[in-house]
Order: sequence, then C-alpha cells, then structure tokens
Amino acid sequence: MSVQLYFVAMNIAKLRRGLYKFDPASFSLKLISHGEIRGKMYELCSYQDWITRAGGVFVLISDLDRLNWKYENRSYRLTHLDAGVLGQSLHLAATSVGLGSSMLFGFFDDDMNQFIGVDGDRQFVSLLLPVGNSVLDYSPLATDSIKDAKN
Ligand SMILES: Cc1cc2nc3c(=O)[nH]c(=O)nc-3n(C[C@H](O)[C@H](O)[C@H](O)COP(=O)(O)O)c2cc1C
Repeated sequence: MSVQLYFVAMNIAKLRRGLYKFDPASFSLKLISHGEIRGKMYELCSYQDWITRAGGVFVLISDLDRLNWKYENRSYRLTHLDAGVLGQSLHLAATSVGLGSSMLFGFFDDDMNQFIGVDGDRQFVSLLLPVGNSVLDYSPLATDSIKDAKN
C-alpha cells in the first residue's frame, strides 16, 4: 500500500483537535500537532466552509518511494489506484458505524502538502475524506437520492 493515512480531528468528543498520523504497526493514531484546526482546514480547502462541519477528515498521502523501486514510471498510476481502494474502504467503514462520508479534492496542493509536512513531489496529499454524523447533509457529493435514502 503506497498511501499513508493522516487524520484531522475537528469536532469529535474525547479526541483532541489536531493532526494525527495513523500508525499501522500499532493500529493507533499518533498526535502530530494540536490546536484549533478548523480555520486552517477551511483555508487549505479553498474556503469550502462545509469542511469545518465534519467531525474529522482522513488525509490520504501518496508515497511514491514505496512503489518506485518496483514500478518505476508506472508508480504514479498505481498510487492513485491505491488511494481509490483505501478511500472506498474508508467509506465502507464509516457507513458500517453509521457515519456519513464524502470526498474533497478542491484543496490548495502546495499549502496542504506543507501543512501535512510532505514534499509534494515524492509524497503528496492525494485526497481528503471528511467523515461525521451529518456529512451527507451538506457535502456537494450528497445527491438527493442519497439524502432520501438516509431520511
Ligand atoms: C473525488 C471527488 C472529490 C470531490 N471534491 C469536491 C470538492 O472539493 N468540492 C466540491 O464542491 N465538490 C467536490 N466533488 C463533487 C463533484 O464536483 C461533483 O459535484 C459531484 O461528483 C457530483 O457530480 P455529478 O453532478 O456529475 O453527479 C468531488 C467529487 C469527487 C468524486
């Protein structure tokens, strides 16, 4: 898997607001930085205000170093397939615990990469996946049929 997973906690009871990195070895989140983070996410996500209403946001980071040794110039293609597979799994996991989930691609690349702490070249933010109780009520991806099925 070429995708690293980070998580931005914004509105979650009992979880400190901040940026976390998922550690697969211990299956836990490691706090990287804490503090009020919603305003920053609003800016980074090209001033889309709906992002601030999510409970949290998964941040999928493509890491080409995990692929280049084997796939060389096909790595770029494969990491996007990985991101799609992981994104789908996160949507299924969110649904299974009764949370809404969406996807957000409209962020400022350089600023977002800098915020997360990746170089934007060999490692870069690929996709954001907001989750939360009511994400499907206000996400641009929520079609009327999704809303109807939910209500
Ligand atoms: C991966 C992905 C990321 C998206 N990111 C955004 C976003 O950042 N902001 C936004 O307003 N819509 C976003 N959308 C929504 C699309 O722009 C579009 O409104 C939605 O897919 C519905 O398209 P349709 O009307 O062709 O069915 C995203 C959609 C996808 C699939």
